[in-house]
Formats: sequence, C-alpha cells, structure tokens
Amino acid sequence: MAETHKEIVKVWIAPGCIVCDACETDCPEVFEVQEETCIIRPPALKADFTKPLTPSIIVAAEGCPVEVIKFETIDVEGPEPAAWKESKEPAAAGAPAGGGGGAAAKKAAPVYDGPPDPKWAGLLRTAATRPHAATPNAATVILPAKAPAEAIATALPHGAPPDAIGAAMVGSGYARPRPSIADRIRSKGASLAGAADMTRREFSIALAIGWSCVAAFVGLFGAAFQTFFVPKVTKEPPSTFRAGKVTDFPDVGVYEQFKGTNGVWIVRLPGSQLVAISDICTHLGCIPNWLQADQKFKCPCHGSGYHMNGVNFEGPAPRPLERFKVSLDGEFLVVDKSIKYRQELQQWNLPGAFIAV
Ligand code: SF4
Ligand code: FES
Repeated sequence: MAETHKEIVKVWIAPGCIVCDACETDCPEVFEVQEETCIIRPPALKADFTKPLTPSIIVAAEGCPVEVIKFETIDVEGPEPAAWKESKEPAAAGAPAGGGGGAAAKKAAPVYDGPPDPKWAGLLRTAATRPHAATPNAATVILPAKAPAEAIATALPHGAPPDAIGAAMVGSGYARPRPSIADRIRSKGASLAGAADMTRREFSIALAIGWSCVAAFVGLFGAAFQTFFVPKVTKEPPSTFRAGKVTDFPDVGVYEQFKGTNGVWIVRLPGSQLVAISDICTHLGCIPNWLQADQKFKCPCHGSGYHMNGVNFEGPAPRPLERFKVSLDGEFLVVDKSIKYRQELQQWNLPGAFIAV
C-alpha cells in the first residue's frame, strides 16, 4: 500500500477565542490575533497556502488553550516532506532550537521548560503580551509571582476553564489584567479630547455660518415678500399735485413734463384754456405719444389718434381722452386726478375741467 501523509487544506477559528496570541506566535503566516478574536489571514484561506504550513498549523492548534483552531486535511500520496520531520524533532526532544527554519523551528526555541500539556504551554508563552480579559474575577489558583510555567500548569486542574487559566497567569505575574471596557473607553476619550475640541470649534464656526445664511435668507425673503405682496399704493404719486405756476405754460401747446411722473399732459389750448389731459388711451389703456409735428396724440398700440384737445379722430378709440380737475392755488396750477371730466358726458364745460387764463 502506497505511503500517504496529511496536508491541511482548510483552517478556521471556532467561537471562543480568548486572544492569547499563542497561535500567531506558532504560525504567524496563518493566524492574526486581533482585539477581540483571532482571524485567519486572507492568503491562508487557500489550500495551496496552508498545505506547506501543515506542521505549524498543527502545532498552533495543539497549543490553543481553548481548542478553537479547526482544520481539515486531505491524504496526499507520498512520504511526508523531510523538512517537516526535521522541524518536529527538536520540539519532540524538548531541546532548544539548534537549526532548521520556519515556524516549527521557532517553536523549538522554548522560553522555559514546557509544561506537559501543549495547551498550557501555548498560553503561558504568550499570555504576558495579551492576558485574558476575565482574569481579575476568576482567580481560582493562587501562585507566587513569576512561578515557573511548569508549576502553573501542574497546579491547574485538568480541563480548567479559560478564565481560570487567566487567573493563574495574573497570579503568577506572567500577565496583568486587561483594562476594563470602562477604562479603555476613558483612556480613548482622553486621547480624543484634543480632536473633540477641534470638532467643537469647527462646529461653532459652521453654526455661525449656518445662522448667517438663515438670516440672509430671511432678509431676502422679507424684501421679496414686501415687493410682491405689500400694496404699492404708498409709492404712487399723490392724486393731487402742483404742476407749477400758470406762467410756466405761456404758449399754446402740449407740456409733457408730468407725463412720466403723473400721467398727465398740461395743455394750453387756443382760446386761453389750461387743461390737464390723462395719458391713458380710451381704447385699451396704452400710453399715446404727443407728435409735435402732426399736432396730435398717437397711440402706439392700435393707432388711435387724438387732437390736441383730447378728442379722438382716428383709430379704434371710442371716446376722447379724459381730463382731470384743475384749480389755482395762488399763482400755482393744481391738478386733482381723483376727479375726471369726460367729453361724451358733456363735462368739459364744468368748473374745474379747465382754467381760463
Ligand atoms: S491560540 Fe486559540 S485562543 Fe489563542 S489566539 Fe489563537 S485561536 Fe485564540
Ligand atoms: S389702446 Fe390705444 S389704440 Fe388701442
């Protein structure tokens, strides 16, 4: 029958790791011990990677105090590689490392005389750097400080739980209790205090900028609200205004200085009448223009035409332009736009429709 040997094709960590670091010491290529548990390094998830490391993985598994390192093997034809046998020999003999290479060789250089059970050996070898968290409350074995590993292993009952092992380590001085979660949070908080201050300052600046933006938005919104919703009647010119002295209109003709501001033409008509004519077209409300050359008002919208006295004569305008009340305040001409006079209603001859000058 052909000779075969076993090679590991798959390795994993079962729940219950006490983060003792032993496996990483035995086989760092495969195991990485982190804060809360041990993990398999990504390259070691492939069979081609684990096969040549079979001896080291087995040593690590045997040294795991809580036996959570699991692996799967296959039978491979042929004898076991010679290097594997060589790497096992020093360890089997319990002698210090005298040669060879790899993780197995490293294991052959014990720090102290190994205890009988490899699980205790693995734990004791590494517990000084990563003690178990539960140790302070599980001191079931009291040993003198720095007691030999063998004494610790001997004192522990067979199959002792992990917290008892940790207690033994603390009692022996090989380990120190892991800080409690509260202590770790406090120390981390202290180290982050500076960063927290920075965050608060940045937060204050951001808050100030935010409130400035809000104030600007409210201001703009208020201005927009006033523009769109507040009646503009207060901004319109008063309905009654002084149009100047009567002597400012000495000649027959149309005076346009109040058209833009007050919507009024002051017209001195032949026959010495002074009237105030509205600049609103009686067709659909456009603003006609005074054409000096043609001596007429001409509406640009639909072509309505009005004589100088405001009477329509062309285009769709249905009636003459309206006139406003005029009166005298001393030597000043006063126009009151709240009172209108319409020619078709025979109002142009009423007092106030004109001033005789
Ligand atoms: S030896 Fe076992 S208990 Fe220790 S870190 Fe590795 S897997 Fe975890
Ligand atoms: S609005 Fe003036 S002619 Fe139509």
